[in-house]
Amino acid sequence: MDRLPGFRDFYPNPVPNGDVWSLDLRNHIFAQWRRVAKVYGFQEYDGPPVEPLDLYTTKSGQEIVGQLYNFTDKGGRDVSLRPEMTPTLARMVAAHERGYKKPIKWFSVPQVFRYERQQKGRLREHFQLNADIFGEIDPAADAELIALLIDTLRALGLSSEDFVIRLSSRQAWQGLLKSKDCEPDREYEFFQIIDKLERDSEESTASKLAAMGLSLDDVKSFIAAAEPTADLERILDGIKARHLSQFVTIDYSIIRGLAYYTGPVFEAFDRKGEFRAIAGGGRYDGLVTLITAGKTHLPGLGFGMGDVVLTELLKSRGLASVPAANPDVFVLIEEESLRTLSLSLIQQLRESGKQVEFSLTPAKGDKQFKRATELGARHVLRIEQGPEPQATVWLKNLKSRMEKRLALNDVINAL
Ligand code: HAM
Repeated sequence: MDRLPGFRDFYPNPVPNGDVWSLDLRNHIFAQWRRVAKVYGFQEYDGPPVEPLDLYTTKSGQEIVGQLYNFTDKGGRDVSLRPEMTPTLARMVAAHERGYKKPIKWFSVPQVFRYERQQKGRLREHFQLNADIFGEIDPAADAELIALLIDTLRALGLSSEDFVIRLSSRQAWQGLLKSKDCEPDREYEFFQIIDKLERDSEESTASKLAAMGLSLDDVKSFIAAAEPTADLERILDGIKARHLSQFVTIDYSIIRGLAYYTGPVFEAFDRKGEFRAIAGGGRYDGLVTLITAGKTHLPGLGFGMGDVVLTELLKSRGLASVPAANPDVFVLIEEESLRTLSLSLIQQLRESGKQVEFSLTPAKGDKQFKRATELGARHVLRIEQGPEPQATVWLKNLKSRMEKRLALNDVINAL
């Protein structure tokens, strides 16, 4: 039976073919995501993978609602697999924000599900690093978050030649709409036109804009001017002070598809423009208010970075190989009479944190040795004679080829 379209099988290395994914590489990415998020002082949280359908239908906007993996559960509830983490997070923060000092800085690595048409960089499930800050309106928080985004990508070996953060602001566009006397309630409709600018034809964009009283030239010259708003200036200053300016550019063609963003927004792309967005995020100062029906107000901002495009990019840059976790030692059991004593030593070594391999069933000595080298073990050892406490051990470093004999009790120290 085949897996469902748009879902992935993750195998340990070496992966059998290009149709499946490497769990070693996924773990490597997750480890860097978590390490850098912690370096920036973010704490990890998690939430349910299934939520009430309403959480998304009112908050995320049409684009994501069309992609929901929703169903009626056995209790007759309308539910959905989470297509993103932000509504869950806003709900969780709103419920217990009083117990946490502000600003709240949290991260998570959820698997999310979207019923999208399967294509390059787009599947029906993916993992996302989500990093968000609540309770801070100062643009210093936006700069902090963008710096975190840059540093997670740098931690995976990518440089400013590989990726760029395109920084924009919904407020800047609101300024333009106001100056052109556009109806304020058509704002989201306008944002969706801008979001599709690079994918739609010029004719189609121009006619949609005309219906709103705008011309394609207005839009094009606004993007070309790339005049930063006061908030964006502050963000750029914060990025510059961290010596990260080469990673960020003002680009008003970025607007973000999700409905809840209110201020600065950004997306990370590969420099050559070969792939879809690596990450995207921005400020959503009204989402907690919306989720709590006006009871709690808490400004928020954050980003999501998916593993799919990121993995494609790492592969294309030769950064996808992950060092194998080789055994510290392979214990050869050539005499079955020494198996019990060998197992006791293996247990002690494992309790001391060493990665230990051995043959579970009787096997010829040369076969065991071959297996040790195949696994890339750093050492092999063999108990040579019993019984305790006089037993001696032969230990060989497979790299330096150095061999020695030592007492059973000295093995842990010798490794
Ligand atoms: P998003 O732009 O929808 O934002 O997704 C973030 C990233 O997830 C994208 O840049 C892309 O790398 C990846 N991604 C999205 N959809 C797919 C897919 N179908 N297959 C593979 N990868 C995908 C959000 O989800 C926001 N909730 C992010 C956020 C957090 N904003 C504030 N806080």
